[in-house]
Amino acid sequence: MDVKKIFLPESELPRQWYNIAADMPTPMEPPLHPGTGQPVGPDDLAPIFPMPLIEQEVSQERWIDIPEEVLEKYLIWRPTPLYRAYQLEKYLETPAKIYFKNEGVSPAGSHKPNTAIAQAYYNKISGTKRITTETGAGQWGSALSMCCAMFGLECNVWMVRISFDHKPYRRIMMETWGASCVASPSTLTKAGQQILDADPDCPGSLGMAISEAVEAAVMDDNAKYSLGSVLNHVMLHQTINGLETQKQMAIAGDYPDVVIGCAGGGSNFAGNCFPFVCDKIHGKDIDIIGVEPASCPTMTRGPFAYDFGDTVQMTPLLPMHTLGHGFVPEPIHAGGLRYHGMAPLISQLIMDNLIRPVAVQQLETFQAGITFARTEGFISAPETDHAIAVVIREALKAKEEGKEKVILFNWSGHGLVDMAAYEAYLTGQLADHELPQEEIDRALKEIEPLPKPQQFKG
Ligand SMILES: Cc1ncc(COP(=O)(O)O)c(C=O)c1O
Repeated sequence: MDVKKIFLPESELPRQWYNIAADMPTPMEPPLHPGTGQPVGPDDLAPIFPMPLIEQEVSQERWIDIPEEVLEKYLIWRPTPLYRAYQLEKYLETPAKIYFKNEGVSPAGSHKPNTAIAQAYYNKISGTKRITTETGAGQWGSALSMCCAMFGLECNVWMVRISFDHKPYRRIMMETWGASCVASPSTLTKAGQQILDADPDCPGSLGMAISEAVEAAVMDDNAKYSLGSVLNHVMLHQTINGLETQKQMAIAGDYPDVVIGCAGGGSNFAGNCFPFVCDKIHGKDIDIIGVEPASCPTMTRGPFAYDFGDTVQMTPLLPMHTLGHGFVPEPIHAGGLRYHGMAPLISQLIMDNLIRPVAVQQLETFQAGITFARTEGFISAPETDHAIAVVIREALKAKEEGKEKVILFNWSGHGLVDMAAYEAYLTGQLADHELPQEEIDRALKEIEPLPKPQQFKG
């Protein structure tokens, strides 16, 4: 029988994270202070993040040691298995070999604890008592809740209203791990109140929830804020995934021609693909594809520009692909992909043609998720379905071309708490959504006066 799962022994767990900043062909432009427009220094970030994370945010070191306490916690679910999707290959009648890295085996059900554990640890050793955060679909909020419980920290989560209403089980998971979870916009912060005054029925967005969580952290000396994606240190922590995958692909005796991941803020995709991007920088021929929803087309239709990470303009300005901080995407079911910006590291790699972005419509993603469930068994998170849709496209392309390509993708999480979304699809209640250019233009007007990165493309 052919090998289905490739496991790594615990002794092979990577002991360092990989920092792609050390290998970027174009150096990153700095984040700018939201008030002065000048590059931010560590002291500007100190009210929000603990110093070890700020140091990682700006580090140029290629390898960063993973602390023992973090390794110990990683062992609860890591190393995660790499699977060969034989049944999907057979169903598609493709000559392609399809591999997927299963990040859904973590207790919270996704890749998110890879950074949540590290962030909880660095906060704990820096004296933080309470962590505030935002969450979209609830995967990040639940991951951080679990990790705060492990390090004895209080955790307060602002969950985007539309998901809060649709996904009560994620809130209950957070509460089970001892955190509090409120719908955003909320009346607990000035930012939330301001948004509700303008629109009492506001469905919320990640940008709004970030504003609320940052404000709550800044108002309390014992609190810090934690972000589940976008920032350099989050991408760094996630690379444990790609480093494991490289060892597992070597055991399988294959090397990917195509690497695919879905991208909301970019962290699961970065975690899996950055070690392969490093190979590509050093000459390997790999197609590395980030997949986003057509209704929130940050990478494919947003300019590379400086923008705020949140709606009410409290965070530093980041050089990234953006749809404008005021952009409120359609309430699609892949809540974790409804973000107006993209990780600066990924954005820069797109500018350097090392990563290729693709956008897909909602119906194609659910169809792909159903195909995957009926062949490989696993029910994927709606976010993950975006990656699967493009895996299927690439596998069918390989069939047309008669090429035995090796396709690797990151299975970022399971969808067992997202069954309402599948029900909506199965009962024909979902539709595709064409985003009119005027809507993007309107949101982008707001960033016109902001400073521009050197590589600005409007
Ligand atoms: C399962 C899953 N995949 C992907 C994402 C998108 O986030 P990121 O792009 O940071 O990986 C999320 C975010 O909530 C998620 O829960």
